[in-house]
Amino acid sequence: MAKKVMQVLTGEAVWPPPVWLMRQAGRFLPEYRAVRATTTGFMDLATNPEKACEVTLQPVRRFGMDAAILFSDILVLPWALGQDLAFEAGEGPILPPIRDQAGVDALDVGRVRGEIRPILETVRQVRAALIEHHPDTTLIGFAGSPFTVACYMIEGGGSKEFAHVRAMAHGQPKVFADLMEKITVATITYLSAQILAGAEVAMLFGSWDGILSPRLFRTHVIAPAARIAAQLKARFPNTPIIGFPRLSGMMLGEYAHQTGVNAVALDTSAEPSLAAGMIPADMAIQGNLDPLALVAGGAALREEADMLLQAMRGRPHIFNLGHGILPQTPPEHVAELIAQIRSA
Ligand code: CP3
Repeated sequence: MAKKVMQVLTGEAVWPPPVWLMRQAGRFLPEYRAVRATTTGFMDLATNPEKACEVTLQPVRRFGMDAAILFSDILVLPWALGQDLAFEAGEGPILPPIRDQAGVDALDVGRVRGEIRPILETVRQVRAALIEHHPDTTLIGFAGSPFTVACYMIEGGGSKEFAHVRAMAHGQPKVFADLMEKITVATITYLSAQILAGAEVAMLFGSWDGILSPRLFRTHVIAPAARIAAQLKARFPNTPIIGFPRLSGMMLGEYAHQTGVNAVALDTSAEPSLAAGMIPADMAIQGNLDPLALVAGGAALREEADMLLQAMRGRPHIFNLGHGILPQTPPEHVAELIAQIRSA
């Protein structure tokens, strides 16, 4: 099999490792900003299959990434469940916060299938383009981890502390559990549909998974991920799953052993060798270069990247960042990083 990402996800160590970058289709690329400028907003772009396909392919064309990640957002799922969603320039996503049982009851799992149709059309178009022009590039579909999606749905947007979310998880456990149930069921529908449309890998983005206490991390991060993985594996046994339980720290080993994912993505704070010691030897690791090293470039970037390459050598590893690429990243630094990895 020629696809390096798929080789690594089935437990093989490939040298030099394949590489892609979280949020690689985005504002750091002038060609992305040009397409974005032709739309009325983020959702207008995400629901336009031709344009979403184009921006998905841009980083593959420019840098030869080993994977394309569907251009969409984890908040498309709340939107498909019927929660309003707006992306305000410079402020991030805004949703009317859900804080009670009535808010949860208003969400409609039944409408997800219809709402996600344009996203699935993007998946089909991207896969067809990859088969024709980039046959060694893997298409990654994704969803948010249910807890991370719940964070935005309850808080109504981004937050430093997600205090309303943690208060609800502890103080209104029934409301919270009902919300988590709807998100989890909808996520299984959404990821299954992406795989049927042509996604070769499914990734769960758990950007806020690590803010929970260990007890609640087991209930609201590990258990839903295990349920999603079991359902997807039953239907699509050959589709690998990557979990990104950001900031999970000491819970990483339990997540890796108990969810049934094929790979874990490490955030920037995870020491690669220590993290590797917490997970099965044949499980793939993705990550975890500091996005700020990529902004800095030069010797700082080379040293950080080299340490990571050497620490992961001999293990199944997909080179990536520890969090999304930042809009101020010079595209030349990305090109230099890719050249360094390819000549390792
Ligand atoms: O290139 C890719 O990786 C594919 C597309 C992708 C986007 N968002 C596009 C996007 C993916 C995989 C995401 C995931 C996502 N979205 C996460 C998980 C990963 C992470 O970064 O923690 C989260 C938490 C979100 C929620 C979200 N979407 C926020 C907080 C914001 C605003 C902050 C920001 O960076 O702008 C978004 C908007 C967003 N999603 C943009 C892009 C390219 C920028 C908006 C624009 O171009 O108008």
